[in-house]
Amino acid sequence: MKKGLFITFEGPDGSGKTTVATIVCQKLSEKGYEVVHTREPGGIDIAEQIRKVILDPKNTAMDAKTEALLYAASRRQHLVEKVYPAVEKGKVVICERFLDSSIAYQGFGRGLGAEDVIKINEFAIDNTYPDKTIYLDVDEETGLARIKDRAEKDRLDEESLAFHQRVVEGYKAVLKMFKQRIAIIDATRSIDEVVEESLKIIQDLLNDR
Ligand code: TMP
Repeated sequence: MKKGLFITFEGPDGSGKTTVATIVCQKLSEKGYEVVHTREPGGIDIAEQIRKVILDPKNTAMDAKTEALLYAASRRQHLVEKVYPAVEKGKVVICERFLDSSIAYQGFGRGLGAEDVIKINEFAIDNTYPDKTIYLDVDEETGLARIKDRAEKDRLDEESLAFHQRVVEGYKAVLKMFKQRIAIIDATRSIDEVVEESLKIIQDLLNDR
């Protein structure tokens, strides 16, 4: 049996991860690959419950470290229940967000620092890193303009422009930290172009298996 793949999409809010990942998954399925499209925080029942707690706009009292630990907890459960079994069966797992989001949002956005965020996540991920990460590159203003009209805004969507600027700065640091693993795609272009480039990256990995 061919080895499975664990691919993640990263990027600021409004970078188009869900739209692009959905089309990419459809196209890979049409080509006959077994694909699992999932997301963090969430993707399975326990992690979706944790997601509700983290993102509930009413939870204004949540401490930054509590937030980081909840993301790590949801990550652990999602890996064990969904990612590991699928990869073991040779499937292609396409996941919106993973550890890099915690480094950017909690490490930089909340100011906890990359080092501590990586440290608590090491316990959760047991050295599991994606085979490839596709970073959808947009600046914070473009991203926020895209989500402006969303009917329901979560606790993080409602953070200030300065918070989202720090997140984008955080992602820039992440891109430097993990140069080999992360491919950067200019996500200000059309969806078709972004999908095509993403598919090419994934197809190359599939061909190399
Ligand atoms: P989503 O809107 O992309 O589904 O993600 C929900 C929010 O959670 C989004 O604003 C990014 C944030 N987030 C973190 O702050 N840290 C994390 O580790 C993850 C996975 C998401």
